[in-house]
Amino acid sequence: MKPPRDFFKPLAIGAPVPLTSLPIRTERMIHFVPPHIEKVRAKVPQLISQVDVVLGNLEDAIPADAKEAARDGFIAMGQENDFGDTGLWVRINCLNSPWVLDDLMAIVPALKDKLDVIMLPKVEGAWDVHYLDQVLAQLEAQAGVSKPILIHAILETAQGVKNVEEIAAASPRMQGMSLGPADLAASRGMKTTRVGGGHPGYRVLADLEGDSLPRPAFQQDLWHYTIARMVDACQTYGLKAFYGPFGDFSDPEACEAQFRNAFLMGCAGAWSLHPSQIDIAKRVFSPDAEEVAFARKILDAMPDGTGAVMIDGKMQDDATWKQAKVIVDLAKQVAA
Ligand code: GLV
Ligand code: MG
Repeated sequence: MKPPRDFFKPLAIGAPVPLTSLPIRTERMIHFVPPHIEKVRAKVPQLISQVDVVLGNLEDAIPADAKEAARDGFIAMGQENDFGDTGLWVRINCLNSPWVLDDLMAIVPALKDKLDVIMLPKVEGAWDVHYLDQVLAQLEAQAGVSKPILIHAILETAQGVKNVEEIAAASPRMQGMSLGPADLAASRGMKTTRVGGGHPGYRVLADLEGDSLPRPAFQQDLWHYTIARMVDACQTYGLKAFYGPFGDFSDPEACEAQFRNAFLMGCAGAWSLHPSQIDIAKRVFSPDAEEVAFARKILDAMPDGTGAVMIDGKMQDDATWKQAKVIVDLAKQVAA
């Protein structure tokens, strides 16, 4: 595998900010907006105070004849608003589309340091990240961008899942990865027509007990395997993992359950495609007050993080101290 380019000796003229000095952000939801729609853009100023990340979507769900309007709308949205601590991201078109070079060549010089992260769809291997890395280095140098633009890959093809570790390791620009369940379902030949979430047919049946009917069935998480692989790859290389979209806006309970599975498995956030999903993501990806209180008890009971203690009848040791620290650190980050 090609080693990642040393970001500190870039093509860029001038000294980019080291990646390690970039702020750690709370990114519980990546909120998608279709930037070609004027009335949606008009609501961006209110949105900024409600979400952690605003993302202008240029890829799927934007019709081919609106690609340019979406690109121009995103640039206008980026230039007209002060995003403060809220992240400004864009999902560009995929690398083999006719639009992607124009997306990059227009957006980078127009938004410069205002743009935080580029979400790259349909990433299949490290080569896709290397390509974007080099194009960004050239455009940043030309435009005088001083803060490196980060890359977020969508994991949404069978080949991408196969190569997930090398994608995570591909560049110091990598910020994180999202599961893209809709494209992944198609790529894998799954027999579904949904954007994320479960399926009533994917379930296990409880053992038969006597002649009790109906026999209980338990729906399974279709995305468990991929989320686990993505989380492991991301944690290995210091990136954040995200659940992607949940397309059934009429079922907030199922959306919350899917987001919660992802949170418990190590994800930092999920996409919100509808305003109703913003609060769901905020609730799920902020640690629960009771959990935080219990985690603090563990940290207090083991000041140096070693040994074994009993708290509320449960054994705690060095490993649960580390788990508790994850929860307390997240609570501090969310509160900051
Ligand atoms: C998202 O892009 C998906 O394909 O689910
Ligand atoms: Mg997709």
